[in-house]
Parts: sequence; structure tokens; C-alpha cells
Amino acid sequence: MLQSKILTVCLLSALIISCRKTVDNPILLGREIFKDVSTTLMQTVAKKVNDEGAPNALLFCSTSANKLMSEKIDLWRKQVVEQHGFKDLKVSRKTLKPRNAANLATGEAEEILLSWENAKEATPTFREDNNLARVYMPIKIASPLCLACHGTSAEIQAETKVALAKAYPNDRATGYALGDLRGTMLLEFIRE
Ligand code: HEC
Repeated sequence: MLQSKILTVCLLSALIISCRKTVDNPILLGREIFKDVSTTLMQTVAKKVNDEGAPNALLFCSTSANKLMSEKIDLWRKQVVEQHGFKDLKVSRKTLKPRNAANLATGEAEEILLSWENAKEATPTFREDNNLARVYMPIKIASPLCLACHGTSAEIQAETKVALAKAYPNDRATGYALGDLRGTMLLEFIRE
């Protein structure tokens, strides 16, 4: 009886220890968060474009999509802090050709995006120093859906162009083709 209790406790501890090891790993967590946030964004934008057309969906992208993304990220932040022992989590999108100037890649993000472009291959990249772990996940033009707002002039409807010019007079985020690298999602895990 006692032996089986000891065995159960051992097994449970081993399980907890091995689980903690896996889930506290910023690379694995970063991949999971990236997948979750991108899927939610993609599904919501797809529904908006289908229901209301690209020009109306555009407004949604500049306001509600960011809100939706930050709500998702808030949930992850809570989990990352309460369950995985990090002090904070920051998530942002960076690109060499921004639509929203706030997303312009500089410093390390710029260097990594340029290296992905030169290598013609984008692989998740991890950097860590001074209690700050950074995971860079590539964002690709993964669906024809993206082209309605980021494609060539021929692919973007006239109405969308008007809406874009109004909301983003300095827009640089067009002319992409399916499969192109669009930018990176940067996940910053801050340790105590
Ligand atoms: C309905 C139009 C629309 C569609 C479809 C769309 N986007 Fe965007 N995208 C936008 C707008 C508007 C912004 C600027 C958001 C802001 O102001 O923060 C943006 C910004 C971005 C950014 C942030 C960098 C920047 O340039 O500011 C990335 C990355 C991005 N889009 C990738 C994608 C990908 C990948 C797809 C396809 C899955 C996609 N977008 C589909 C309208 C769209």
C-alpha cells in the first residue's frame, strides 16, 4: 500500500517536473501563442472579408483586429505570469514595409528580418539576455485572403485602395505575393 503511494507521488512529481520544464520554455510557449493569435486573427479577418468585403474589413483591421489581438494576448499574459513564472509578456508585429508606422522593424528585429530575406528562408529565431527572452516568429502571406489588402495594385479593389489611402497615407504594405515574408511576431518574455 505504502509502496504504491510512494510510487504515485513519484510519478506525479516526475510528471509535474517534466511538464514545467516543457511549458516554461519560451520557445515552445512563443510558438503556441503565435499559433493561437494568428489563427484567431486569420479566422476573424476571413469572416469579415467574406461578410462585408475588403474595404469594410479594412476598418476592422485597423481597430477591432488590434483589440481582439490584445484581448487574446492579455489572456496569454495572465497564464504566462501566473503559471509559468515570467514577470511579463509583450507581443508585437514588426515589418520592413509597415502599413502602421508603429510596426516598423528596427535594431534586432530588422536584422533578423533581413537575414530571413537574404537566406530566402524564415525560421523561428530565439535570442536571450538580461532576463529577456525573445522569440521571433515569421509571418507569411499565407493565404490569398491577405492579397485583398496587401497584394499588387491589380489584386486590391478600387474601394479598398481609397480606404487605404485615407487611413494609411504612408502605406508601404502592398505588392506582396502569396508565400512572401510579411514580417515577424515578436514575443518578449520578461523574467523576474
Ligand atoms: C481587410 C484588409 C486586410 C487583410 C485581408 C489583411 N490585412 Fe494585414 N493589415 C491590414 C491593416 C489595416 C493593417 C494595419 C493595422 C494597424 O493599423 O495596426 C495591417 C497590418 C498587418 C501587419 C502588421 C505590420 C504593418 O504593416 O503594420 C501584418 C504583419 C499583417 N497585416 C499581415 C497580414 C497577413 C499575413 C494577412 C493574411 C492572413 C493580412 N495581413 C490580411 C489590413 C489587412
